[in-house]
This record gives sequence, C-alpha cells and structure tokens, in this order.
Amino acid sequence: SLVRHYNFRVVLKNTTKLCSSKAILTVNGKFPGPTLYAREDDTVIVRVTNHVNYNVTIHWHGVKQLGTCWADGPAYITQCPIQPGQNFIYKFTITGQRGTLLWHAHDSWLRATLHGAIVILPKIGTPYPFPTPQKERIIILAEWWKSDVEAVVDESIQSGLPPNISDAHTINGHPGPSPGCSSQGFTLHVESGKTYLLRIINAALNDDLFFKIAGHNLTVVEVDASYTKPFQTDTIFVSPGQTTTAILTADKDIGKYLISVSPFMDAPIGFDNFTSIATLRYKYTPRNPTTFLTSIPPQNATPLTKTFIDSLRSLNSKQYPANVPLTIDHSLFMTVGVGINPCDTCVNGSKLVASVNNVSFVMPTIALLQAYYYNIMGVYTLDFPANPPNPFNYTGTPPDNIQTTNGTRLYRLGYNSTVEIVLQDIAIIVPESHPTHLHGFNFFVVGTGLGNFDPNKDPKSFNLVDPVERNTVPVPTGGWTAIRFRADNPGIWFLHCHLEVHTTWGLKMAFLVDNGPNESLPPPPSDLPTC
Ligand code: C2O
Repeated sequence: SLVRHYNFRVVLKNTTKLCSSKAILTVNGKFPGPTLYAREDDTVIVRVTNHVNYNVTIHWHGVKQLGTCWADGPAYITQCPIQPGQNFIYKFTITGQRGTLLWHAHDSWLRATLHGAIVILPKIGTPYPFPTPQKERIIILAEWWKSDVEAVVDESIQSGLPPNISDAHTINGHPGPSPGCSSQGFTLHVESGKTYLLRIINAALNDDLFFKIAGHNLTVVEVDASYTKPFQTDTIFVSPGQTTTAILTADKDIGKYLISVSPFMDAPIGFDNFTSIATLRYKYTPRNPTTFLTSIPPQNATPLTKTFIDSLRSLNSKQYPANVPLTIDHSLFMTVGVGINPCDTCVNGSKLVASVNNVSFVMPTIALLQAYYYNIMGVYTLDFPANPPNPFNYTGTPPDNIQTTNGTRLYRLGYNSTVEIVLQDIAIIVPESHPTHLHGFNFFVVGTGLGNFDPNKDPKSFNLVDPVERNTVPVPTGGWTAIRFRADNPGIWFLHCHLEVHTTWGLKMAFLVDNGPNESLPPPPSDLPTC
C-alpha cells in the first residue's frame, strides 16, 4: 500500500456559465474539483490550505475513517473550521472499501462548488468482480447558481422562507447547452465496441436526480464504494451524496445520443425542475448527425425510483460478504421531516424547521468531538430520544401536533454494538424525500416501505441476506427505511439529510460511539483548528 499526498488549495476562481460570471470557491481553481485517487489500504494525506474569506472544512464523504474520526471533516462536529489563511492536514487510510465516493466542503452550503470525486481502486492484483471495462469516466452532477449561494442561504435563514433554487444542473461542470450562451454542454466521447465504467456522483445540494443515456442501458455494479449484484437499467436514480458506478457498452457504430439529468421531486415546490442535457458521441460520427433523444422521466416518477432502489443488492460473494448484524443492541425509531415554528423576525411570523424525533439540531460553536475529548461541559447533551416524544401516525394529511424542540442532543452507542434505525418520513407540510447520510459507517438497507412502519409486521420481510450496503439512503415521502450497522468506529458521527436545505433547517443529529471517556479514541492531530 502507498501513501498518497494531495495539496488542496481553496481559492477563488472567476467562472462564466449561463452567460454570467462570478468568483466561485474552488479547490486548485477547478470546478468540479480534482479527483482523489487511492487504492484500498492506501493512506491519503491531504493538506487543505484556506486562501478565501470563508471558514472551510473538507469531508471525505463515505470514507469510513476507521480510527481517524478527527479527519472526517464536518464543521463543528469533528473539527473547528479551517479559518482564512490557515491549513489542516487530513490523514486517513482507506479500509475495506472500493469504488466511487466524493469529497465536499462541509460548512454551510460551500459544497455547491467545493466538491470532487474519490476513486478507490482495488488492491494491486485484485480484479474487479465484473469484466474490467476498457475505460473509466467520472460523471459529477451538481448545480449552478448565478447568484452567490451563501447569500441565498443567509437570506432564507433571515426570512424564514424557502431558499431560491439553482439556475441549472451541471454535468462535469457544464450546465448543458443554453441558447444564446456559447456553452456546448458536456460531451462523453466513446468508441464503438468499447466498455466504459461510469462513476456517477450526485454532488448537488438539493436534488435527487435521474441520469439517462438515449439508446443505451447501464449495468450497475457498485454504489457508495460497495459492490452490488450487477443489474441492467435505462435510468440511474441517485440522491445527493450517493454514487453509482455502472458499465456502459458502446454498442452502436456512430452517432450522437443525448444524456439527460433531471430531478426527481415529489415535492411540488421549492426544487429545481430543470433538465440538463449532455451528449454521448461516437468516434467517427460525421458533422450534423442524427441525434437520438431520450425520454425524460417525469419529475414525480416514484415507481421508477422504487424499481431502481429495489434492484440494489449487495454482491455478497465469498470475497465480499455482506456482514449484516443479525442481533440488535440499539433499536431506534426516528421521525424525519420538515415543520413550521413561530419566528418573530421572519417574513410570515413563522419559519421552516426540520427535525429528527422532534429535535431540531442546533449547531454548537465548538466542535463536538473536541468538547468530548477535552471534557468541555455544556456543548451537547447525551439524551437524544430513541423514539419520537410525539408519536407519529402518517395519514397523508398534515397533523396539528408537530412540536419541535431545539437542542444539541447526541445518542450514545457502545463501541462495537449493533444498531437498527427505522427512519420514518413524516411529510408534514409537503411531500419530501430525505436522502439520509451517516458519517463513519456503511449501513445495510434492510427494508423500506410506504406509509407507517409496522414494528410487528414489517421486520418479518427485512432482507438480512444481501441488502445493499451504503452511506446515504433515501427515506421515501410518507414512508420508511430501515438500516443496520455495527458501531465499530469510535468517535462522533453526524447523521443528516443530504438535501442541504433540510440540514440547514435542523434535520441532523449525531452519535457518540465510545466505551467510556476517551477509550479507543485517538488523540487529535497537533494542527487541529480551534474555534
Ligand atoms: Cu456528504 Cu455530512 O455529508
């Protein structure tokens, strides 16, 4: 195994898209940012230097960070932010993972432009568990705002109203052809007869996305750096924070085939309903060829998302077994959703809030992990409820008894204990899906369904054999998703909705995994930022 060094300089870069220019935050002047390559078992050392006027941290989304909780990156959870002019060295080892992940800024909405791919190749001499494709391509989906994204968030927090939406989705930084502007959109060049491994990443702030290529099926082989049983599909469904790796066979001779990136939103308002177009183009295609169009999934294509999600299974081979916990030490039931709280200073006298088990999480002003390690009292409490204090019964109509309290409440898990969480979406105001991300672990998605979770009936149909293993999972509108994992990583680990707007409103909580004060927790690195 190797030690791989990277230098991430966070710098402003003037960028023009959709006929308008602005300075954006980038790593090394690139949007999307540089790809971080490693092999399983490699150690990665990234020096992040902050040359902008914002506090910054970088999160290695989906990297398990076994024994390196200080390097995880969420601001005020595991570290204080890197202040302007400062730097911090992230150091971690890639353990038991192979495939595609992403890195992104983890303070406010800075990940809008600060993100990039992580590619974990198998160990030397270990082949992929599928025929090795001839070429690999990274496809990063994100958003483009003409306005200043941080101003959008600040304004929404002040007003209590939903934030503005982006102006386009981007494919590897390209918004798609826009009439009048010189942008041509992204082109994926392929050669007839070759196979391509597409590493598809949803780095968008606020949209679940569909990805389709006209005339071509894709074979999914891995999600969130965990191998799956291969299956064919014409549409990839990918939530923010998720990755999907699929094989594309370039089985046509020549021609131009459109690629569409369109949002899935079962919420009628407040999300970006733009479709962005890219092009797959065969080598030797003449000028002005026939262009093959793709049918774009309807925005509310819930059945399509269900078919895709139901097709995902762990590879569960001898070499890559699915070690699903069969007995459970901690059983949690979490309601997740958006509600309304009174607000004196807001436009309508109320503001949108989001909560887990009726707790809207309040960000501390010093990092939780530092507070824990140095025994600083009053930063958090260890009383996050294992069940919602206000019992919830999903009927599809808004109930009137949704109370939210504020707090920085953690749930404590014994090191190496096994955990089951049933995430129940409460969809109080509008239909809302919640791609829920857990830091520090992969989990198995043992079940999902619509309506209320039934503790007497639903566990009987849990898949404990080959459930998909991942780090981010959608909780369907008015439905539930059950996950299991082993808490084999000491530290403080964030759990939150990866739709940034919901995180901002408070849909987040954290776990403390330990066996008593500081036991098995490594000491902080000497350059760890202070608040
Ligand atoms: Cu990709 Cu806590 O985030």
